[in-house]
Amino acid sequence: VAPQTASSTSLTIAMPDESLRRGVHKPILFECAWEVANKVGGIYTVIKTKVPVTMQTYGDRYTLIGPLIYKTAPMEVETQEPTDPALVATLESMRAQGVKCLYGRWLIEGAPRVLLFDTGSQYHRLDEWKGDLWNLAGIPSPPNDHETNETIVFGYLVAWFLGEYVAHQSHTAVVAHFHEWQAGLAIPLARRRHIDVTTVFTTHATLLGRYLCAGSVDFYNNLAYFDVDHEAGKRGIYHRYCIERAATHCADVFTTVSGITAWESEHLLKRKPDGVLPNGLNVVKFQAMHEFQNLHATAKEKINEFVRGHFYGHYDFDLDNTIYMFTAGRYEYRNKGVDMFIESLARLNHRLQQSGSKTTVVAFIIMPAATNSYTIEALKGQAVMKQLRDTVTEVQARVGSRLFEHAARFHGEGRMEVAPENLLSAEDQVLLKRRIFALKRHTLPPIVTHNMADDANDPILNQLRRVRLFNTPGDRVKVVFHPEFLNSNNPILGLDYEEFVRGCHLGVFPSYYEPWGYTPAECTVMGIPSVTTNLSGFGCFMADSIHNPSDEGIYIVDRRTTSIDESVSALANSMFDFVNKTRRQRINQRNRVERLSPLLDWKNLGLEYEKARMLALRRAYPDAFIGADEESGEEVDWGFGGEFPLSVQASPRLRMSGLATPGDIGTLTEEMQRLETSDYMGYLPRRGAGEDDEDEYPFPLVM
Ligand code: UDP
Ligand code: G6P
Ligand code: GLC
Repeated sequence: VAPQTASSTSLTIAMPDESLRRGVHKPILFECAWEVANKVGGIYTVIKTKVPVTMQTYGDRYTLIGPLIYKTAPMEVETQEPTDPALVATLESMRAQGVKCLYGRWLIEGAPRVLLFDTGSQYHRLDEWKGDLWNLAGIPSPPNDHETNETIVFGYLVAWFLGEYVAHQSHTAVVAHFHEWQAGLAIPLARRRHIDVTTVFTTHATLLGRYLCAGSVDFYNNLAYFDVDHEAGKRGIYHRYCIERAATHCADVFTTVSGITAWESEHLLKRKPDGVLPNGLNVVKFQAMHEFQNLHATAKEKINEFVRGHFYGHYDFDLDNTIYMFTAGRYEYRNKGVDMFIESLARLNHRLQQSGSKTTVVAFIIMPAATNSYTIEALKGQAVMKQLRDTVTEVQARVGSRLFEHAARFHGEGRMEVAPENLLSAEDQVLLKRRIFALKRHTLPPIVTHNMADDANDPILNQLRRVRLFNTPGDRVKVVFHPEFLNSNNPILGLDYEEFVRGCHLGVFPSYYEPWGYTPAECTVMGIPSVTTNLSGFGCFMADSIHNPSDEGIYIVDRRTTSIDESVSALANSMFDFVNKTRRQRINQRNRVERLSPLLDWKNLGLEYEKARMLALRRAYPDAFIGADEESGEEVDWGFGGEFPLSVQASPRLRMSGLATPGDIGTLTEEMQRLETSDYMGYLPRRGAGEDDEDEYPFPLVM
């Protein structure tokens, strides 16, 4: 077997002969994604949170592959020398040809091995590789698409790496798992070059789906009828679409993250997924229920601190009777349903005003946009409030020592009387007055905390203007738009995202396009109720997993079978009902929502990934499977030794009692290909339960 080098791009490697047959029992696993050690959105969360459960099964046989981003890599990875001889030889050879890469431990829970490639080190080969891609797969690549250029160089580096690796190591089977089109180009390359690995491709969305939904297309009703090439061409993404489609079709096993995206993939990528791998999380089990409730209370106090500053001069509402709602994510205005959120907030405001409610709602929108730092007003709000607090602390100390003096000298009988002016001196009063004077303000509390690069055309700001949510004293719903992801060093809202979520009362994610949607899932495991929709993968998963999700603190807005106006009303109603809950009811609901966590735990859902890998091995090495399980009748030991629990923790409200893992509804087997997509999308609510509607997808379409 000749080593594969980048220059031998069209070289075909011969399949190993029988004596070199790779062992499939303890395979090597490479998992490749653009978001390995590189945070962009939800894929980073998938990869990172899944590590502990993958390490449990694969340990040293597991390596993640991603791009080398010099700015963040030192914080993410600790450099190490590889010990696997095949890896040592491969990296030596690649380095000798100018490839720069970083190998080490990713500094996250589980500390997995990572290999990061510097695409810049091979950019000089871009044209050569573009030509090869055209010759090999007929995939065009226009000159100035940076994202595609990165994808091409990265894909060629990964294929080069895999080719060399399997040339140096011929005894054990290699599973290469790729996420999303940006990391998927190595799949068609591996297939064309007959690299002896088996591949899994997991898509977390489709390019066309995301683009079409962001426009004004009636997406779900027309899914089956789009002329995909034409639509991709019209949006200038034909070449990207080709890469995505090539990865989809060349992979041994093709999967996605939810039933709804499986359906979309079948129509837009033209391959029926082999199964669904729902996204999990690392669920932290608290010893006692009150622990996470206490975390809510402490985090909420930090948000209170922000709110006092932000609304200075207009801080006339009771924080003890204030509800914090939020939405968060990448700035995809329509796809993430921010349009619907704002419209519903306006209706909620109106209803609260009409009903004479004394409750205040502060709604946060956390979505990164182009900005030029914080506004003076936002910084000033925090500063004046801090000065007031510091002054009060000083005065408090002086009042305390005066009181102490009085008490120490008090020898008489009866009441100790101290005139207020003897406790609070004239100087102290002046100091306090000065601070209070600084709290006067002639403008309304700002909506946005940053200077927007394009304030006049920002869709969120424009809609807030349209619905007239301006933070006036009469508004029961106040809005804060924070156009940057959160972190604890932030001078305005100094909390990490997780802490912020814990401190809020309700997460609102009324997405129109959302293959999974980690944000409401994260709320769930932190015990915070949330709103999602039946167009999100997570929403459908929960609808199928539990009876009456809204009782459990998962509100699912119907965006499928009703008009937009009805959906907005439903969302406003849910929010109104939530606002009218008592504190005791909120505490109970947090307990209930947190109890759903095992459904989302990788300890259960990780099994679906293992099934996908096993299917890939079976497809690539069918012979290896005959002897062990059929001839001898023995069970094959896949090296994960029954570590996965066979069922989720029992909960009386779970809908699918008796099922193994929740992912089993989308269980991944060879059988899948013979089924209708609707069968593996079992967890989408069926019209007329019990009927078998062979020809129809399981949800009614809006006509
Ligand atoms: N997120 C974050 N900081 C924030 C807001 C969001 O880290 O201030 C993370 C959040 O924890 C989640 C991810 O961004 O894991 C968004 O993932 P999701 O699946 O909801 O959407 P995607 O961006 O992948 O479409
Ligand atoms: C937690 C704490 C309680 C506190 C409550 C506030 O449950 O354990 O002591 O009263 O949070 O809840 P609220 O929904 O009003 O923020
Ligand atoms: C994508 C989707 C999101 C999903 C994430 C992880 O970015 O937009 O819905 O949660 O991938 O699968």
